[in-house]
Amino acid sequence: MAHRNHLTCLSVHDEHMKHGDFVRLSPTHVSISHPDSIKEILGHGNGFAKSDFYYAFDNIEQGIFTTRDRAKHARKRRFVSHIFSPKAMIEFEPYMTIALGNLGRQMDSLIDTGRAGAYISWSAKDSMIAHNSRKGEAALDAAVWSAFLAFDIIGDLAVGEPFGFVEAGYDSEDRIKKLRDRGEWCATVGMLPWIKTWTPYFYFDSFFTKGLKAAQGLAEMGIACVEKRKAVSIDPNRKDILYYLLAAKDPDKGGPIPDSELKAEALTQLIAGSDTTGNTITHLTDMLTRNPAKLKILQEELDTAFSDPLPQDFVASFADCKDLPYVQAVIYETLRLRTTVSMGLPRVVGEGGATVCGERFEEGTVLSTATYTTHRDPRIWGADSWDFKPERWLGRGQAELEKYFLGFSQGPRACIGRNVSALT
Ligand code: HEM
Repeated sequence: MAHRNHLTCLSVHDEHMKHGDFVRLSPTHVSISHPDSIKEILGHGNGFAKSDFYYAFDNIEQGIFTTRDRAKHARKRRFVSHIFSPKAMIEFEPYMTIALGNLGRQMDSLIDTGRAGAYISWSAKDSMIAHNSRKGEAALDAAVWSAFLAFDIIGDLAVGEPFGFVEAGYDSEDRIKKLRDRGEWCATVGMLPWIKTWTPYFYFDSFFTKGLKAAQGLAEMGIACVEKRKAVSIDPNRKDILYYLLAAKDPDKGGPIPDSELKAEALTQLIAGSDTTGNTITHLTDMLTRNPAKLKILQEELDTAFSDPLPQDFVASFADCKDLPYVQAVIYETLRLRTTVSMGLPRVVGEGGATVCGERFEEGTVLSTATYTTHRDPRIWGADSWDFKPERWLGRGQAELEKYFLGFSQGPRACIGRNVSALT
């Protein structure tokens, strides 16, 4: 297989360009880029179960993201879905407004005091940013600050207190780093799930021991936060993800959710929601700076919706933004071309085998939709499929395009936190 760089989705894409809609990635794993693969592999009703790839991601115990068993997943959805109800979204918004206000003030202060560039050392592209910043201009690294913002918000909601990264200007206790080290470890170990129990002994490569240590460190942090919340009396009006988990009833037994499961679910939300949201904000910023004509249209829409004079600490509300068509179109288009989860999501063919996109597959075969390739397929998006064109999402065609949009996946295992990321 060709390796243009380390991103799996690019290598898989190259193979699809050479061989067509079906590409065998391993003796038991086939990637499919046919447009119908989305509804046939992931869709409601006929969606296949998650494969053993997700075993690597189990932390503390199986969470809603990693559970492979359908019945167990349905049980978890019953109590986790309350966290993301419209009522909960209204309760979460004030935490986000505070975090966004903090970011605005921090940006102003860094620019006013000429310290903006002092914080770019965290990124791999430091030299490029430093090189591009001209006299009198402030360089801010979107990747750094978007991550700080997203982790502050999701941390506040999921483990009960803000991390304070935006105000501090650094990743205290290496929490972001731990989450990323763990993520890379999981994605690698997930390819060969049986090595998971052996990785503590993989002294020959620090990648494995480091990733495992990071996973353990994150679990300890999640456990400590939940313990603290249970022990300390807090503002009874505080309604966050942890509140909903603590208040939830076990769908089987009726009592509270078992302690270990509750901790696993709180940690799941932190892991699933933080870097995904931060990276999406980063890519959105990048796409707009690369496409100034589109930025201008967006700016005009915002200027019309929120006209001057605005208060000093103004943060737009979700209600005021959710129906702005160009804002929504920019988000969709960013997630199409810069899909945060761009690898194919592996699912396993159930008992008796299955026919998918006209081909027969044996029971146990792993199938994945080729997200990167599907998001650029001219059969779906037309001849300009590689262009950043938010306009394609405006008007009546949007519902049809959404059928092929994998930004939040589709079907029973689609992202449950989509509304939280939209609020952010
Ligand atoms: C822009 C931000 C986000 C993106 C792009 C995103 C994307 C995704 C994708 C693609 C999946 C399917 C993964 C798979 O099948 O392997 C997923 C699942 C999930 N996401 Fe998100 N996500 C985002 C934000 C969030 C947030 C903020 C939360 C929670 C606070 C969250 C919680 C979850 C959970 C719990 C699942 C598993 C759902 C299940 O299996 O039932 N996500 N997300």
